[in-house]
Amino acid sequence: MSDHLIIFDTTLRDGEQSPGASMTKEEKTRIARQLERLRVDVIEAGFPASSNGDFDAVHEIAKAVRDSTVCGLARASENDVRRTGEALKPAKSMRIHTFIASSPIHMQMKLRMTPEQVLEYAVKAIGWAREYTDNVEFSPEDAGRSEPDFLCRLLEAAITAGANTVNIPDTVGYTMPWQFGALIKSLRERIPNSDRAVWSVHCHNDLGLAVANSLAAVMNGARQVECTINGLGERAGNASLEEIVMAVRTRKDVFPCTTRIDTTQIVAASKMVSGITGFPVQPNKAIVGANAFAHESGIHQDGVLKHRETYEIMRAEDVGWGANKLVLGKLSGRNAFRTRLAELGIELPGDDALNIAFARFKELADKKGEIFDEDLHALVSEEGIVPAHEHYRLAALKVTSETGTVPHARVMMNVGDVEVVAEVGGDGPVDAVFGAIERMADSKAKLVLFSVNAITGGTDAQGEVTVRLERDGRIVNGNGADTDIIVASAKAYINALNRLHAGVERINPQLAA
Ligand code: KIV
Ligand code: ZN
Repeated sequence: MSDHLIIFDTTLRDGEQSPGASMTKEEKTRIARQLERLRVDVIEAGFPASSNGDFDAVHEIAKAVRDSTVCGLARASENDVRRTGEALKPAKSMRIHTFIASSPIHMQMKLRMTPEQVLEYAVKAIGWAREYTDNVEFSPEDAGRSEPDFLCRLLEAAITAGANTVNIPDTVGYTMPWQFGALIKSLRERIPNSDRAVWSVHCHNDLGLAVANSLAAVMNGARQVECTINGLGERAGNASLEEIVMAVRTRKDVFPCTTRIDTTQIVAASKMVSGITGFPVQPNKAIVGANAFAHESGIHQDGVLKHRETYEIMRAEDVGWGANKLVLGKLSGRNAFRTRLAELGIELPGDDALNIAFARFKELADKKGEIFDEDLHALVSEEGIVPAHEHYRLAALKVTSETGTVPHARVMMNVGDVEVVAEVGGDGPVDAVFGAIERMADSKAKLVLFSVNAITGGTDAQGEVTVRLERDGRIVNGNGADTDIIVASAKAYINALNRLHAGVERINPQLAA
């Protein structure tokens, strides 16, 4: 059996299914480039049949990525598979991933199909996919709750039809690690042609067991793990890439395989995904949390100073902590700025966007002096560098807040081509600013999340604000960064309004029959 563990990243597909995590084509392409730098084997770039936007994003990523296989998800229908094949056409290496549910509850209640029909569709879908590529993956959705005998029949037929990766999803995060390991072992033993496919797993984290289940599967012969940066994904998320990779690397004595991941790119990937989606990383999150390598207690600090391995099983620098070296300052020129953006994999769409970004960089450098990589990521994330989504634009903002008085905001913004102004009082300065923006935009959206994080250390750090808005069941996130957190808050709110305004609709592959 191969000793290479394939890392299949689905941040851009399953990760994007988290409510509010939807990303623009430019953002997805930026993340895909970072995944390539991370040396992920397979990037699941999206679900092309879900929307024209997703089709375009997968197509763009297929053009941009050269060193990882680019994969697209398709339900087991001819239209889905063909849309996916078309979207992936420019890829140097492509894979079509098709799936259909196999558990009794999904077949009866969701698909309203008999097991025989499910098997027939699976085989047909694999056949359509093989017309585009010989790299085809098949998943029986909700395998964790499927009948083992039916799974064996379905997977044997899928391999015979030409699937060379078979993926076992624990779609609802229901199984226990020992059960999931045993399931992989028994499927591999019972299915006569099992050695003609790579065995893969895809675990959700509803009971906090996604990583444990994936690793149990690896110990039982799985050689592909599907995972996401920061464990992003539907509901409680997917198995976290950084935890899987570092477990396999740190416990070489236990695992019979290795990955090709460049672990020093992990923290950069985590920060990029968190910044773009607006999903903060909890401080005590393994590997990528701000405290993951911080030693607070005196005993620990003393031990680490004497001999670091007393309390550390991994080195912070091996996963990319401390790599955000000071790169630019206020004397840096346009060329240095453009070069550093290119090194970070950030490509701006044309000279206008570069000019806007450079002007913002100079403004920021004047306020802040030292500019770190995280600042650059935040700076280009801001709406306005990619002008297509800018229906609302912040023009000016004045806030007064004094003990014993009602905070008051005066906000001027552009709505389309019209400049409008509103003045509103509020419970606090942020509340007043949001009230003023809402008075002008009249979006009727409900604010469901407001969070502020410091992008780098120090009191001169930029504050990065995430705002989540909900309207008619649709959820969007907006981000904004500035050294003034009130301004960052206004930018984030306006960014979310622009996303609501853009109205990009996507189908969730698992909810659509
Ligand atoms: O969770 C799941 O079952 C999936 C499949 C589409 C692989 O995401
Ligand atoms: Zn999933």
